[in-house]
Amino acid sequence: MPNTALITGASSGLGAEFARYHARRGGDLIITARRKEALEALKAEIEERDGVTVHVISCDLGAPGGAERLYDEVKALGERIEVLINNAGFGGHGLHTERPLEAELKMIELNVTALVTLTHKIGADMVAAGGGRILQVGSTAGFMPGPQQAVYFATKAFVGSYSQAIDHELRKKGVTVTVLAPGYVETEFAKTADLEGTGLVKGGGKSAASVAKIGYDGMRRGELVVFNEGRLKFLLGWVTPFLPRRAVLKMVDGMQTK
Ligand SMILES: NC(=O)c1ccc[n+]([C@@H]2O[C@H](COP(=O)([O-])OP(=O)(O)OC[C@H]3O[C@@H](n4cnc5c(N)ncnc54)[C@H](OP(=O)(O)O)[C@@H]3O)[C@@H](O)[C@H]2O)c1
Repeated sequence: MPNTALITGASSGLGAEFARYHARRGGDLIITARRKEALEALKAEIEERDGVTVHVISCDLGAPGGAERLYDEVKALGERIEVLINNAGFGGHGLHTERPLEAELKMIELNVTALVTLTHKIGADMVAAGGGRILQVGSTAGFMPGPQQAVYFATKAFVGSYSQAIDHELRKKGVTVTVLAPGYVETEFAKTADLEGTGLVKGGGKSAASVAKIGYDGMRRGELVVFNEGRLKFLLGWVTPFLPRRAVLKMVDGMQTK
């Protein structure tokens, strides 16, 4: 099976678009998420159109041990993974102490623990095989603290920091790690995170297909951090780091108020 990609969170949004884009380039796929029917529908669509092989693994990566179970199932397929796209993730709106702790911890389990587990295990396999590409779906949220989505912003800060360090460690061994930092994208994300009605999403966002293409192409080039909008790259690199911390907190709070 040549050029095989493992893509998490492929049942909707960015993950489904990463899968379609990879398949159009002739690559085989292992797609995973919880919703098996959506994955099977995507498999049928892609195999029919692109003539590649798609494996479906239904898995809850937010459950303890979920990523280990996924890894074991991937190994049982006997495929070498050339591309890993750690995309599954979710957010959640509200004041931290008023949100259920269980939901906050599940977010950390999915956005951080599962991503670290798969990067560790599949990264080691890629090193042993002599190369590979890893794309980590972070967020512009990773570049600032996020009142009313405190845990989500913190998980994405972790993804950015961790992934850049791992790229530095693995690049000389032939494995690159790229962080995609999107602004708002039109997917199921806002509904799941209860963000509808906030300033953040009112103005609309970019399409999942356009953002997936930018991230995937950046990963193929081995870029370290990829923004899908030049405007956001400038703001987060050259404006917000120089603003007073409390002004940034107030600004983000305002963007996330309904
Ligand atoms: N949309 C945005 O504005 C935006 C901006 C920046 C970054 N991002 C990031 O982009 C990534 C993809 O999100 P999206 O925008 O495409 O949202 P989405 O349409 O809600 O997709 C999220 C994906 O994650 C999967 N997922 C959720 N919980 C899971 C679990 N417990 N176990 C396994 N898979 C799970 C979902 O599948 P199932 O429900 O079938 O499990 C789905 O396939 C996320 O990491 C998100 O943080 C999104």
